[in-house]
Amino acid sequence: MPIDQYYILPLLWLLICLLRRIEADTQFSTLNFPKDSHEGFARVNMSFPTLSCVSLCVRVQWDTEWNEVSTIFSYASPVFTNEFQLRGQVDMRERILLALIIHGKHLPYKASFPNDGAWHHICVTWNRTSGQWAIYVDGERKDMGSGTDTSKDIHGDGIFILGQDQDSFGGNFTEPFFGNMTDLNIWNMSLETMHASALNACSTMTQELLFSWNLNLLSIHPHIILQDNCSASG
Ligand SMILES: *[C@@H]1O[C@H](CO)[C@@H](O)[C@H](O)[C@H]1NC(C)=O
Ligand SMILES: *[C@@H]1O[C@H](CO)[C@@H](O)[C@H](O)[C@H]1NC(C)=O
Ligand SMILES: *[C@@H]1O[C@H](CO)[C@@H](O)[C@H](O)[C@H]1NC(C)=O
Ligand SMILES: *[C@@H]1O[C@H](CO)[C@@H](O)[C@H](O)[C@H]1NC(C)=O
Ligand SMILES: *[C@@H]1O[C@H](CO)[C@@H](O)[C@H](O)[C@H]1NC(C)=O
Ligand SMILES: *[C@@H]1O[C@H](CO)[C@@H](O)[C@H](O)[C@H]1NC(C)=O
Repeated sequence: MPIDQYYILPLLWLLICLLRRIEADTQFSTLNFPKDSHEGFARVNMSFPTLSCVSLCVRVQWDTEWNEVSTIFSYASPVFTNEFQLRGQVDMRERILLALIIHGKHLPYKASFPNDGAWHHICVTWNRTSGQWAIYVDGERKDMGSGTDTSKDIHGDGIFILGQDQDSFGGNFTEPFFGNMTDLNIWNMSLETMHASALNACSTMTQELLFSWNLNLLSIHPHIILQDNCSASG
């Protein structure tokens, strides 16, 4: 079997990150969203400020067998349910296509990565001043655009859910994600390619950090399986 660089590289980055985290003596666990439950989710237990600028990165391992729309995260605000969201779906060419929703506007499914079961690093960003958004995969910008609604910020005091879409504020979950997720970080700034690329290679970036991966700040549904340091590297 030929060694597929697209499979090996993400795995290598993950292992390097893992070792750095273990060195730093911090927690590095992954969430497994199993397909035998459609109810799994994790809620980020923090209070969100109003955001004129936001960036978010997460590592995902997609279930290669799942063909439906899958929600990586959904952020609902009390005044608007589809405030900020990232979803993905497999296409005919066996790639996972990603799309952002900002203030309810569904942007195109275009940024993609192969449906290869490997870990992939995804970053998304939006800046109200410029109206620009972007999606980065494995450290490269795969899609960007403008023309989002810049008349308002992303509302604060919202509910942030990993792995489910919210059809009502904090409830009526639909379009689940299946697979593994880890290393979610959220910033109130716009990421550039150099940041996404450095983060993919496991640099840390502490300026303007709102949330940094920490199981103690997640409320995790009992159907989610936690994998700790050791099994994540196995
Ligand atoms: C991960 O490893 C660190 C350092 O060895 C340890 O402190 C932490 O408890 C581990 N986390 C889990 C979930 O096992
Ligand atoms: C969420 O955070 C608040 C404030 O830090 C805390 O009081 C509460 O117990 C946390 N809830 C969960 C489920 O972790
Ligand atoms: C949420 O689900 C409940 C129970 O199925 C239903 O009665 C309600 O209309 C739903 N709400 C929304 C906003 O979809
Ligand atoms: C998630 O991680 C577990 C443990 O490493 C692995 O067995 C499983 O295949 C992974 N799931 C997917 C969809 O890759
Ligand atoms: C938003 O974009 C503007 C224009 O490109 C830039 O000057 C500003 O620094 C960005 N804001 C943040 C918080 O990154
Ligand atoms: C980002 O959040 C931090 C911490 O809440 C705050 O100090 C900083 O001013 C915020 N930056 C922007 C650009 O909103």
